[in-house]
Amino acid sequence: MLNQITISNLRNITELIIQPSSGINLIVGNNGSGKTTILEAIHLLTLGRSFRTRFLKNAVQFGQPKFQVIAKTTNDMPVGLQFTLTEGLQIRINSQPLKRLSDLATQLPLQLIPANCHQFFEQGPRYRRQLLDWGLFHVEPNFNYQWQSYRKVIQQRNSALRQHKNDQEIQLWDRHLAAFGEEITRLRQQQLNVILDRFSSIFPRLCPEFSDAQFSLQFKSGWSKEFSLIDVLNTNIERDKKLGYTRSGSHAADWSFSINGIDPAEIFSRGQQKLFVLALSMAQAEITLNSAQHTRSILLIDDISSELDQYHQKIIISELAKLPVQTFISSTDSILISSLEQDAFATVFHVKHGAIVSGENH
Ligand SMILES: Nc1ncnc2c1ncn2[C@@H]1O[C@H](COP(=O)(O)OP(=O)(O)OP(=O)(O)O)[C@@H](O)[C@H]1O
Ligand SMILES: [Mg+2]
Repeated sequence: MLNQITISNLRNITELIIQPSSGINLIVGNNGSGKTTILEAIHLLTLGRSFRTRFLKNAVQFGQPKFQVIAKTTNDMPVGLQFTLTEGLQIRINSQPLKRLSDLATQLPLQLIPANCHQFFEQGPRYRRQLLDWGLFHVEPNFNYQWQSYRKVIQQRNSALRQHKNDQEIQLWDRHLAAFGEEITRLRQQQLNVILDRFSSIFPRLCPEFSDAQFSLQFKSGWSKEFSLIDVLNTNIERDKKLGYTRSGSHAADWSFSINGIDPAEIFSRGQQKLFVLALSMAQAEITLNSAQHTRSILLIDDISSELDQYHQKIIISELAKLPVQTFISSTDSILISSLEQDAFATVFHVKHGAIVSGENH
């Protein structure tokens, strides 16, 4: 959990220090005031990358040589990140330079619900896979090893395919690839069943009109389910040679939950789609905490006021207040402030031109 965050020279924020509460932190301000930039800073700090740009130089305040984000965690562990135009990204935990970015993510499990979270329904399977694998990474100690190994092996196989190597050299990789792929599938399926269970109890609370609905899991492992991965790789070698890459495998997996047997994308309104993604993230947060590896996780919700009416925004706030999650919510309207007045673990920050004009503990 973060108990102090200092941001310097990030976009329109010249210098800003906040002491967030352990529960809900509501960041209110007009368009362009710097709300998303505060969430971006927290995201940078925990994942070493931005959700807005691949080019961090564009996040450095115009005319400045670098930006910095420094945070203190509750266990007094300082985490610092800086990006300079000349030297790039540097990250330190406890004053030690960090060797691997995944070390940072392990320390601070963070989920982001972007303003355009409808991409869960609208885009290809990548976003859905990332959401699922995020949870596995934090819950299942073995998952990261399986996934990294799978990636290395498939890169080797694809490079053999591209270089038109003979069948024997391509198939050299198949046994390992299949073993990692089958294990990833087993872990994903197991995790999805746990998420479905939690989700089925959270979603109807956010969206009472669906309290009688039945949700079921739709899972595609990335290859035809009647066959094992090793058989699929064998059978499709000519196809893969033509394509120049391995088509079937865990990298092609997809999933969703259907509602009364129907794809939610077909029937849900925009607001309901957003509530669906929120319920998924809350389910994941609960599971991560139950896994005993973490005592708290961080949830960033950008632009809660888009697509959601006041009634549903207030329900979300009351559900979030029950979770042991440190939440940062940005909003252009101040309607939620009144819902937080009863909450001892909530803080409201008013942002104007990249600066905090007031931070109120409730
Ligand atoms: N590199 C930069 N240097 C200086 N200012 C920047 C830079 N990049 C972006 N900005 C400005 O920073 C401001 C803050 O943007 P941000 O996205 O955080 O606003 P916001 O409060 O989330 O607004 P909205 O409600 O519209 O989402 C914007 O005015 C933007 O134009
Ligand atoms: Mg914004």
